[in-house]
Amino acid sequence: MQINVLGSAAGGGFPQWNCNCRNCQGVRNGTIKASARTQSSIAISDNGIDFVLCNASPDIAHQIAATPALNKKGVLRGTGIGSIILTDSQIDHTTGLLSLREGCPHQVWCTSEVHDDLTTGFPIFNLLSHWNGGLVHHPIQPGEPFSVAVCPALKFTAIPLLSNAPPYSQYRNKPLPGHNVALFIEDSRNGKTLLYAPGLGETDRALMGWLRRADCLLIDGTLWQDNEMETTGVGHHTGRDMGHLALAEEQGLIALLSSLPAERKILIHINNTNPILDEESAERQALTQAGIEVSWDGMQIDL
Ligand code: MLT
Ligand code: MN
Ligand code: ZN
Repeated sequence: MQINVLGSAAGGGFPQWNCNCRNCQGVRNGTIKASARTQSSIAISDNGIDFVLCNASPDIAHQIAATPALNKKGVLRGTGIGSIILTDSQIDHTTGLLSLREGCPHQVWCTSEVHDDLTTGFPIFNLLSHWNGGLVHHPIQPGEPFSVAVCPALKFTAIPLLSNAPPYSQYRNKPLPGHNVALFIEDSRNGKTLLYAPGLGETDRALMGWLRRADCLLIDGTLWQDNEMETTGVGHHTGRDMGHLALAEEQGLIALLSSLPAERKILIHINNTNPILDEESAERQALTQAGIEVSWDGMQIDL
């Protein structure tokens, strides 16, 4: 399977449009060694031509323009994106659907909880129904494998994650298991497996089994420390509030990843306050020593 990282930043992107924190200023002025990043999204393919988009970020138009593989030849209107899977109903993972309206109808796979948010608090399914068939919902049942017509060699399983529902959701701070899922994706031809989890709040026994099975992890690198928004002065939310397990805490993501056998451990959905964005930082070096990679916009992973 081929995985194209379209956007490796968390909500807001890097630099964030209204932010002058050390990292955002540094990447803008070129005073730190770092690259700009758009918001969280990947595309997956079994043939390099037909893709499943996993999450639709507000930056999707730029991301398609920056990814020649998504440029479909021989059609007047269209791209390589034949299906869309949503792992949650967060703004940074769904707003891009609005920008894709000229290409409706789109086949959208998501849980009933995500569909519920996207027909109530952020009613994008209702709204887009006015554009040529809008969004066609294919329900995902957590734990039940499914496949998507455009990539028949890939088997997808959604795994419920302990995280949070979006700030606008009536389920904020009381999420149901389907509000956030990881995707476990297996290529039936070579048996290779990817676990994609851009928002991971905590682990449980069921998830541990999937984490141990994956050859490649593409996983939540939002924060270095749980209280980083506070210590950098940009806000008060902790990682725990938002449903993101910070990297460097005692029971944090680095400790978790160190216990797992995956061949590749790659971070995605990195917040602009995270010191690992500075490639010369001690935190980034600690990651590298732990065998953990940081994804970047334009990165391609072949499994
Ligand atoms: C998250 O990943 O927690 C959200 O995208 C945060 C947000 O919507 O700002
Ligand atoms: Mn996010
Ligand atoms: Zn910033």
